[in-house]
Amino acid sequence: MKQYNWGIIGPGKIAHKFAEGLRAVPSAHLCGVASTSRERAREFAAAYHAETLYDSYEELVRDPAIDVVYVATTNNSHFELARLCMEHGKACLCEKPLCLTLAQYDELHALSQKYNVFLMEALWTRFLPSIQVIDDCIQQGKIGKIQNIMVDFGFEASPETLRLFLPELGGGALFDIGIYPLFLVLHLLGEPQKIEKQIQKTSQGVDIDNEIQFYYNSGAAATMAVSFMRKLPCTAIIQGSEGRIEMRRMWHCPCEIYAYENSGARETITPEYCGNGYNYEIEEVHKCLLEGRRESEKLPFSFSRLLGQYIAVLKE
Ligand SMILES: NC(=O)c1ccc[n+]([C@@H]2O[C@H](COP(=O)([O-])OP(=O)(O)OC[C@H]3O[C@@H](n4cnc5c(N)ncnc54)[C@H](OP(=O)(O)O)[C@@H]3O)[C@@H](O)[C@H]2O)c1
Repeated sequence: MKQYNWGIIGPGKIAHKFAEGLRAVPSAHLCGVASTSRERAREFAAAYHAETLYDSYEELVRDPAIDVVYVATTNNSHFELARLCMEHGKACLCEKPLCLTLAQYDELHALSQKYNVFLMEALWTRFLPSIQVIDDCIQQGKIGKIQNIMVDFGFEASPETLRLFLPELGGGALFDIGIYPLFLVLHLLGEPQKIEKQIQKTSQGVDIDNEIQFYYNSGAAATMAVSFMRKLPCTAIIQGSEGRIEMRRMWHCPCEIYAYENSGARETITPEYCGNGYNYEIEEVHKCLLEGRRESEKLPFSFSRLLGQYIAVLKE
């Protein structure tokens, strides 16, 4: 079995979950860690048995032992670190949102092509078996034609989680959590013909509470709530002409899923999950690398850019 050596940049909160995900993938090996804090890198490397510590992010991407880099820093630096990876010919899985502007998306895409390097946004939900299950359920006609999607993601963010509120760190609910409901709606219904939005921003212009409606010429509609101010159910309900699918709290993580017929009959369609869920995006990266792909078919660059495009429209 081909082994892939991973390097992690930015060993913060999410990087810990990711490193647990790596453990669940036999073809993955955590090789090295880079942090602006030597102490943070040392503790992280000890916890997950990574053999190499680097004094800088650049040193990590220069190491020929590293096959693929996971970028887990705050939103503001994703673009420049993904670019650093591309310029050093390193495959890159970069946390969401991959970029903060459309110009950044275009530059990264050009670099990925120029250097023929793999690049993917770490939108882990896309790779969970739950998404395959709802796709199959819909394709099999179990709920008929989709008429309405209601999906939310919200919590009362503590002021200590400063990065969520700071514009210089790429803060904002749409960037951080809105990307998940947007993904589900664009994945299932595609681009809307009309948008309505109620966006509440801080005095610094960072969005903290959002109610969004997408309308389609087909008659379908989607409602998304995304908030740092409200504890929301964090569920997704996909209503069709013949029934509905309910993805229970937290819908964007491995979750319980039920399909209901209009008669009320309920079928449990929860898939089997393994690992902590982050293993699925890692497996997708390995599959793409093995096949010599620059991007994933499940989450092509164009889809990441589309997410970025809608976030930009909503933030206007
Ligand atoms: N996929 C998911 O489920 C999920 C969940 C939560 C977050 N995320 C994403 O993961 C990323 C990191 O989130 P997190 O909650 O893990 O963040 P975090 O723990 O606050 O920080 C992660 C790393 O970012 C760097 N960093 C932190 N604060 C910084 C600052 N003020 N200025 C410059 N760099 C700073 C540090 O890198 P060094 O160690 O090198 O200093 C830190 O280790 C975000 O992009 C977020 O959108 C994804």
